[in-house]
Amino acid sequence: MRVLLIGSGGREHAVAWKLVQSQKITKLIIAPGNAGTAELGENVPVKTEDLDGLLAIAKTRSIDLTIVGPEQPLIDGIAELFERHGLRIFGPSKNAARIEGSKIWSNDLMSKYGIPTADSVAFSDSTKAMEYALARPEGSLVVKADGPAAGKGVLLPDTYEELEIAVVGMLDGASFGKSSSRLLLAERMSGPEVSVFAFLDGETVSKEIAACDYKRIGEGDTGLNTGGVGAYSPPEFWTSELAARIRAEILEPTARALVAEDSAYSGILYAGLMITSTGPRVIEFNCRLGDPECQVLMPKLKNDFLEICLAVVEGRLAQQKVIWSDLACTFVVMTSDGYPGNYETGAEITGIRKASEHGLVVHAGTSIQSDGTLITDGGRVLGVVGSGETIRDSLIAAYAGVGKIGFKGARYRRDIAERAV
Ligand code: AMP
Ligand code: GLY
Repeated sequence: MRVLLIGSGGREHAVAWKLVQSQKITKLIIAPGNAGTAELGENVPVKTEDLDGLLAIAKTRSIDLTIVGPEQPLIDGIAELFERHGLRIFGPSKNAARIEGSKIWSNDLMSKYGIPTADSVAFSDSTKAMEYALARPEGSLVVKADGPAAGKGVLLPDTYEELEIAVVGMLDGASFGKSSSRLLLAERMSGPEVSVFAFLDGETVSKEIAACDYKRIGEGDTGLNTGGVGAYSPPEFWTSELAARIRAEILEPTARALVAEDSAYSGILYAGLMITSTGPRVIEFNCRLGDPECQVLMPKLKNDFLEICLAVVEGRLAQQKVIWSDLACTFVVMTSDGYPGNYETGAEITGIRKASEHGLVVHAGTSIQSDGTLITDGGRVLGVVGSGETIRDSLIAAYAGVGKIGFKGARYRRDIAERAV
């Protein structure tokens, strides 16, 4: 079977690593991929936003199944486009991807179907939004741009002044363009956060799996937000009771709600949750695997990933048992100095082979020069997934691997998964 994988990050390298273990796969093409995926398949230089270019590759290269990594092509309707051309694709339709593409749509869905989330109100007028906010305690609200904003569309102001800057910036200053022409003011919840994933095929929800990610650049969750600089699974507070509650109160009702709203979901659903004093509540949904969570989940998946994707695409997930192992995994990301602000690229990377003795090296922002030198080519450069019986074993392995890798300006957090030990 010939597979096209769309994306270029660590998530896609981890998926590619898992895919090539399938007995079914005969060819893997990654668009556009990175230096890590180039070792597992053939990279083609087509961008993830170029839907027509991706369609052309799928056709000319006789692709049997396309797997979509990032959200944007899904939000833009790549699933319908491929299906119109008779091509099979793993990932939700444009309608279903609204669960990530529009925070207001997603919030309306949750409130209509009683799925626990933060109390939220939508606004398009900054004066009305401020009137609402000023009637509530200072620091009790979160500001969320409606549309996609590269992970930067959520602001947590502590004062009315900061809140006003956020609201006015989004609605009147179009700080996120069209994505912030409307926003949500949401109740600020508190509690540990967890990312929960399941394969969905209409009302069928596979066995779920949980991971925690690290978004801040600095140790102790300080500094700027990033795309994610570490992850581990399982979370230290994860129990079968909590998992059962999340299934019954969030995952299954959401799958049913999407079907009822003519937006049946097919793919992987990512529920970002907060475990509050009143129980698990949704922070946000995403229509894809998480990055960096995916990197600690792929080694735990006992099934052939391709077989599950096919079961979902063919509408027979109910007959496909999804099994996750108890393996503990920790992923530590190495970044370029300056990230998430400005940083340099082009630094030579050494030590990959030695690092591989300790864990799975996953590339994100890397590329290979014509002379074969591996160089940095992004903010999140690469990382190591350590695994073992316990989180402690896994983080020791991950850091042993990271310690072997060198490049100019390399940075990484020293506290990934520490709280779980
Ligand atoms: P998101 O982009 O929706 O994942 O939000 C980014 C981060 O903002 C989340 O990981 C949470 O830490 C925080 N956040 C978002 N919404 C809320 C909320 N309603 N209450 C508290 N924290 C939130
Ligand atoms: N781990 C955050 C994300 O994938 O959006």
